[in-house]
Amino acid sequence: MSNHVFQDRNGNTPLDPEQIKGLKFSHFTTMADLDEAEDINIQEGLAWLERQRDGDFLTLQFLNKLHKKLFGDVWSWAGSFRKINVNLSKVEWFDVGPGLINFFEDAKLWVANKKMDGDEMSAEFHHRLVSIHPYPNGNGRTSRIMTEYMQKRCGLKITSWMASLKNSPKERRERYIKALKEADRADYRALIQFMREKS
Ligand SMILES: Nc1ncnc2c1ncn2[C@@H]1O[C@H](COP(=O)(O)OP(=O)(O)OP(=O)(O)O)[C@@H](O)[C@H]1O
Ligand SMILES: [Mg+2]
Repeated sequence: MSNHVFQDRNGNTPLDPEQIKGLKFSHFTTMADLDEAEDINIQEGLAWLERQRDGDFLTLQFLNKLHKKLFGDVWSWAGSFRKINVNLSKVEWFDVGPGLINFFEDAKLWVANKKMDGDEMSAEFHHRLVSIHPYPNGNGRTSRIMTEYMQKRCGLKITSWMASLKNSPKERRERYIKALKEADRADYRALIQFMREKS
């Protein structure tokens, strides 16, 4: 399969040949084929998530299961952490697990203490998770879906960015990435504003 299919998309993780090998549909030749298969899989994953009403969800096991439910029909590595370093994350691949454990411990405190403003908590939750970038791909979508799920479980206002930003105007996606970069510098204002908007 040629590489061009996986390039040219702003803010996306480039797939290395090892990851392309994990694609379960060897006949795919265009990004549209892949997008469609992922979208169908994501819909099924969302239906699974909808049925998860209780139990601890701020865990590695839950996140891995969610990623597998969202992408497991398309990618053989779904639900498994990346084993390489990536440009989009400062977290070394071997620190993904420990980083997530720290993140979930913090998130559990945020939820239990109820001291943090809901919008701030949602923005920080999303940014921390996507910055760890646990998987070879699908981190943006998984982190947005996980953030919505956390909001639902905690009775917070649900962000209306949808599971994927793919169908949103280019400008909107650029603003999202810019807001994430500002959050990298601990300035969450743009991300909070972005997450409050109706898409
Ligand atoms: N500079 C950045 N700083 C922090 N996070 C970023 C940055 N650029 C991109 N991201 C995040 O990484 C995601 C892309 O990573 P990845 O390709 O693994 O996810 P995805 O779900 O496949 O992407 P998509 O958002 O296109 O659906 C973006 O959606 C965004 O959430
Ligand atoms: Mg991607």
